[in-house]
Amino acid sequence: MSFVKYFTAALLATSALLPALAHQDTYEEIVARDLHTIKARSALEGCKRNLIENEELHQRRLAKREEFVSQFVRERGIKRRNKLPYTKRDISARSLFEEIECVLTPQATIGPYYVESTIRKDIREGQQGLEVLYDIQFVDVKTCTVVPDLYVDIWAANATGTYGGVQPENTVGETQLRGLQKTDEDGILQVISIVPGWYTGRAVHTHVLAHKGGKVDATGKYHSGGTVPHIGQLFFDQQFITEMGKLPPYTNNKYVLLPNSGDWIFGQANTGYNALVKIENVGNTLAEGIVATISIGIDLNYHNPDIGMPGLPNPTAK
Ligand SMILES: *[C@@H]1O[C@H](CO)[C@@H](O)[C@H](O)[C@H]1NC(C)=O
Repeated sequence: MSFVKYFTAALLATSALLPALAHQDTYEEIVARDLHTIKARSALEGCKRNLIENEELHQRRLAKREEFVSQFVRERGIKRRNKLPYTKRDISARSLFEEIECVLTPQATIGPYYVESTIRKDIREGQQGLEVLYDIQFVDVKTCTVVPDLYVDIWAANATGTYGGVQPENTVGETQLRGLQKTDEDGILQVISIVPGWYTGRAVHTHVLAHKGGKVDATGKYHSGGTVPHIGQLFFDQQFITEMGKLPPYTNNKYVLLPNSGDWIFGQANTGYNALVKIENVGNTLAEGIVATISIGIDLNYHNPDIGMPGLPNPTAK
């Protein structure tokens, strides 16, 4: 494994009590971030009924998801797992809430492996691994309305725990498992990827970064302007990771698997952090792929202080 990555992971892992060390944030910045999370969460509590009761929004999201899955199923020549038809009668407050719950992720660290990527929905580039169809919805925590026109970056390590496009991994120039896309009119982002593998010091995770009000240039890259109201990481159920770990090529992953419970970013939460995606099998076996669903609550007025970190383009600069 690369020394730098190990060092970074180890530093992150051992700095649970001192995240300032890893990000060089000041104490004030950490407090501000925590306070922000608490405020955002209480705003969300205040308006979430708007979202829960928005039956049309819920229906549209399900329909878009099914279309996304159907296309994948056709291309792969597999059979869609028997899905219970969704009926209005099923909507106990609880099931509906589960479906469109705003999950407030903490403003987690960007990590050392952010690289600009281009607009595309399919970011696999032939990488082997368990295919995942992400269905991610962004919701404004102040109003509980969806957030269209956000440019969202998504990136992760591959099945054997290596990031493409970064010098410490000797993968400069590789673009696999990175993509950028704009949320649609329902605040939805759909991405096809593979479930990331793990690497020493961190639990299995996918990075998500949202730019608000920026522009994309002719090459499809994020260009300029705007702010970054959200930098977060998505996690996967531990039991699911165990099952996935039995499939090739995850069986070739040489790193030490850290469970979610041991990950300081996953645990960064007395404020209601729940960034576990909801997982559903596409077909009849796990190996045929999964759908991973989550709603992410964001505060559009927030500007992430990590934005000044090296390696991250400053969207306010030209
Ligand atoms: C992960 O990426 C590295 C670097 O590109 C590559 O050497 C390795 O084969 C990849 N793993 C898999 C399972 O494709």
